[in-house]
Amino acid sequence: MSLAEKMKLLFRLLFLAAVLASEVCTQQSTSSEFIVSSCRRSLIQLNLPAQQVLKKYVKFSAIDQTDMTHMITDALATKCGYTISYDDWGNISFRASLYSCYTQMRNDTYYTVSVKIDISSRRDMVGAISYTKVVSCPYVWSPREVICETNYMEVSVRRKIPVIAEGVFKNEPEDWSTAFTEAVSGFMSVWQVVFHLSATQKNTMLIDVAQNTGYGINTTESRILLRAPYNASQAVPQRIGGVTFSTLRATLFYKQRWFIYLVDNAVACPVDDVKFVSGWIVWTVPKNISPLLTGAKLIQNSRIQFGIDLLNLTEVEILSRQYEIVDSSTVTTTRIPVGAVGGHYKSRAIRFQYGITYNIRPFLENLWIDDGWGITKYTIIKDITTPFERQLPVITNNTIPSTQIFNVTVGTFLPDVQLVNITVGGVVLTVPQGVNLGYIIDSLTHPNGSVNFNLKVPFSNELVTKEALPDGILFTLNITFGFKIIPSDETFTTTKTIECFIPHPIVGPCGQEGGLLTATLGNLDPSWIIYINKVLVTQSSGILSPVNRTHATVQVPAASSLVLDEVTSSGIAVTIPVNIKDQNGNDLYSIIISCDPPPSPPVCLPDGTIQVAVKKIKNIPDMDLSRLSLRDPNCRPVTTDGSIAQFAFTVNSCRTTQRFAGNLMIYENEISYVSAFTGKALYIMKVSCNYTTNTTLVVNYNSAANPTQSAQTGMAPLDLVLRLSKGDGYNVFYEDTEYPVVKYLREPLYFEVELLYSSDPRLELFLDSCWATTTPDMRSLPTWPIIDNSCEHNELHRTIFHPVTTDTRVQIPSHLKRFEVKTFTFTDGDATYAGEIYFHCDVIICDSLNLASDPACTQIGSCIPARQRLGRSVDAEDDKHRLVSSQAVFLLASKGRSSTKQYENHPQDVNF
Ligand SMILES: *[C@@H]1O[C@H](CO)[C@@H](O)[C@H](O)[C@H]1NC(C)=O
Ligand SMILES: *[C@@H]1O[C@H](CO)[C@@H](O)[C@H](O)[C@H]1NC(C)=O
Ligand SMILES: *[C@@H]1O[C@H](CO)[C@@H](O)[C@H](O)[C@H]1NC(C)=O
Ligand SMILES: *[C@@H]1O[C@H](CO)[C@@H](O)[C@H](O)[C@H]1NC(C)=O
Ligand SMILES: *[C@@H]1O[C@H](CO)[C@@H](O)[C@H](O)[C@H]1NC(C)=O
Ligand SMILES: *[C@@H]1O[C@H](CO)[C@@H](O)[C@H](O)[C@H]1NC(C)=O
Ligand SMILES: *[C@@H]1O[C@H](CO)[C@@H](O)[C@H](O)[C@H]1NC(C)=O
Ligand SMILES: *[C@@H]1O[C@H](CO)[C@@H](O)[C@H](O)[C@H]1NC(C)=O
Repeated sequence: MSLAEKMKLLFRLLFLAAVLASEVCTQQSTSSEFIVSSCRRSLIQLNLPAQQVLKKYVKFSAIDQTDMTHMITDALATKCGYTISYDDWGNISFRASLYSCYTQMRNDTYYTVSVKIDISSRRDMVGAISYTKVVSCPYVWSPREVICETNYMEVSVRRKIPVIAEGVFKNEPEDWSTAFTEAVSGFMSVWQVVFHLSATQKNTMLIDVAQNTGYGINTTESRILLRAPYNASQAVPQRIGGVTFSTLRATLFYKQRWFIYLVDNAVACPVDDVKFVSGWIVWTVPKNISPLLTGAKLIQNSRIQFGIDLLNLTEVEILSRQYEIVDSSTVTTTRIPVGAVGGHYKSRAIRFQYGITYNIRPFLENLWIDDGWGITKYTIIKDITTPFERQLPVITNNTIPSTQIFNVTVGTFLPDVQLVNITVGGVVLTVPQGVNLGYIIDSLTHPNGSVNFNLKVPFSNELVTKEALPDGILFTLNITFGFKIIPSDETFTTTKTIECFIPHPIVGPCGQEGGLLTATLGNLDPSWIIYINKVLVTQSSGILSPVNRTHATVQVPAASSLVLDEVTSSGIAVTIPVNIKDQNGNDLYSIIISCDPPPSPPVCLPDGTIQVAVKKIKNIPDMDLSRLSLRDPNCRPVTTDGSIAQFAFTVNSCRTTQRFAGNLMIYENEISYVSAFTGKALYIMKVSCNYTTNTTLVVNYNSAANPTQSAQTGMAPLDLVLRLSKGDGYNVFYEDTEYPVVKYLREPLYFEVELLYSSDPRLELFLDSCWATTTPDMRSLPTWPIIDNSCEHNELHRTIFHPVTTDTRVQIPSHLKRFEVKTFTFTDGDATYAGEIYFHCDVIICDSLNLASDPACTQIGSCIPARQRLGRSVDAEDDKHRLVSSQAVFLLASKGRSSTKQYENHPQDVNF
């Protein structure tokens, strides 16, 4: 590389460095423009907006004539006339008195303040960016001016006195000290101050001692200045016109060759002049501030000026902001409604409780003329914050059940409140996490700037608690909102539990008329979608007719594919399967409405033959009717065509069971259709025929028209009945027509077994064992023991025997046995069993006078009432054991909100 090239490169580098350096400089000087400066009365103000200084460390320093910087601490601020205040939003305002210590002044009319501002994100101010602001303001002083700043009191007085020239007189002790006794103690000083603590008590201080103690004392070309903090050591509290003032009275000694100047000076500023009275800020300032009026007799004229943030307000503005200012000759009372224009509300959270404060910064200037001091301009600057006022955040429930969405609003807050997180069912979610889960979280801003937050959570959300109650579903949203206040980052929360109960539909009875089945559905939600036998029904289909908002009528032709036939103990029941879904297609309820009476019963012939027709079931695809069978799988239909299967069987075949009810003998069997794939029954229908025990054949529904002839085969000579009593008195029993009997689990069941049609007092009935099953089939599973080997099944005290005594109904007590069953002890897995239940007993009938004669009756049962069964069976053959069953009992989990009637249409498959 040649020398010339090297030089070129070096030159370029230097040039680059110069460019960089200049950029750094310009960046610094232009960016200080965000600091807004202004001349406000006798103060210079700088405003630093929050966005530049929020959460940063800011240091102010005053720059003096020699470019020296003086960091402004609290102590320096009160002594030298600086005020730094932060508002709740993080904005900073800096004020300097025109007579601040480091002000440069010209002719006492033009003032320049230079401030250096360092801003850093670190407490130790490392990496701080510095800005310099130089502000000049002209000002014309009144003869005396008093300023009550928020952190100091200042008075300046015009005096035609020479300027202090430092050091000029230091070494020339003079004779003046004899002129005034107070000056003696300050013999060596050229200037001292005497503070008047009371009429008799004075305190003399050398000027530099006073300055070191925190007083600002100085002279300018034409004025003399005294400044002190409110709590200055020589300040005296004084009550004036009901308000406490901090007052400071001082005589300043100033000497010049052969002369002593004594300047009497006083400052007094109110300290408890602001009160909060039910929604108002009341600011009372007395007018005759006596410490300032020593030597004066008469206030000749007084004029006040009021404003906010050191800016004047006109009377019209004051009126429109609803401030009230009453200015009398003795007092100026300003009333500001909390919340008025000119101030600001701010959210706060104190001990995690939400509340608000209101801040306003008014000033009051009183200009008066008195005969002692001439014109005095007296200015009070206030920074008023109302006490913390707790506000309860209100959570409003706007949930409309049909929408299946919790709709919750919380508020109202000031705009400085942010929603941080929500806790739903104990799980904390940030707002984005909530949105991910399908919640809708909005904020609503009102015209006045306040905000509400709105949360929508679908019922289907897994954090929503769902509880199936007997008559509906209870959805519970346990919500906690977590908030943050900006910029202070204070936090608070608010919690509420919101419930929404969606009742099950109420199904009315179904009636038949002219081939039309009509049922009513109640408690419906207008948004639900209704299917009948899996077919969507609408109003236009003519099947569903709304009665009003919650009720609708279902009308289906009895012969249509929308109904199902079920053959029951009382004949064929026609049922309408109803399925209700919500708007999202979720199954809510499946209900089978039974229509009574059934249209076509089975035919029960006097010779004990039962004939039944089974229609093809529409909702079993590809149903092969020939695969239908009775309990005995070998008992198949006698004929089938494409749509109907005909069964004919005798009561003593095909595993047909027989039982007695009152004077009826009931034969029962079931027709089922079992899936070829799963082996599970897809369809089961009960077939039953009732014959009277006194040999009369009963055919349901038109018994009058039917001939009654032959006795039934298989009729036992001794009949038993297992009855359910309506109470523990055993005098009223449920009628056949009242079955299935609906009972709550807490209600005990009172059973009685009776030997019927016998007047033989020698017979005694014993309960060998009793048990319960969930189906009429006594051998089905699960099964719960009730009486074991003649003993009460004692687990959980399930069974209690009751004695039988003679009364109008009971002639032979030995023909009866009674027991009570506590059904809540029936468990199915972990849960208490609820649903259909049947009771069965294995009964032994013995000769009560001769128990020993029968082996079955000799077995010793140690329990009541199984007194030793030492007797002979009445029936010498095998017929000691007899089985007897109850009719259906329907157990309900717990007592619900509405009638139990709807459960007679058994709800099935309640899905959420
Ligand atoms: C007094 O005023 C002079 C001139 O304005 C200034 O230089 C000096 O710093 C002031 N001293 C104090 C203690 O305020
Ligand atoms: C200083 O003020 C006086 C009186 O206000 C005026 O007469 C004089 O011209 C001023 N001097 C300067 C340098 O401004
Ligand atoms: C404010 O009012 C005072 C007294 O009425 C007046 O001297 C002053 O000039 C006014 N200031 C402004 C900025 O209008
Ligand atoms: C939620 O409630 C609010 C307030 O009542 C209402 O304006 C809004 O429409 C509701 N939203 C839903 C989806 O229900
Ligand atoms: C709601 O949640 C809170 C805490 O997250 C819990 O203390 C309270 O028991 C819950 N309430 C309900 C009804 O779940
Ligand atoms: C949720 O927000 C609250 C209030 O802001 C806060 O106290 C809490 O720590 C937050 N919880 C979590 C897990 O962030
Ligand atoms: C919420 O609103 C729903 C619908 O109006 C009402 O059913 C429910 O009782 C309310 N829940 C609470 C806790 O106020
Ligand atoms: C709707 O109609 C049913 C049946 O007529 C009646 O019981 C119910 O009170 C009605 N509901 C309203 C809200 O009118």
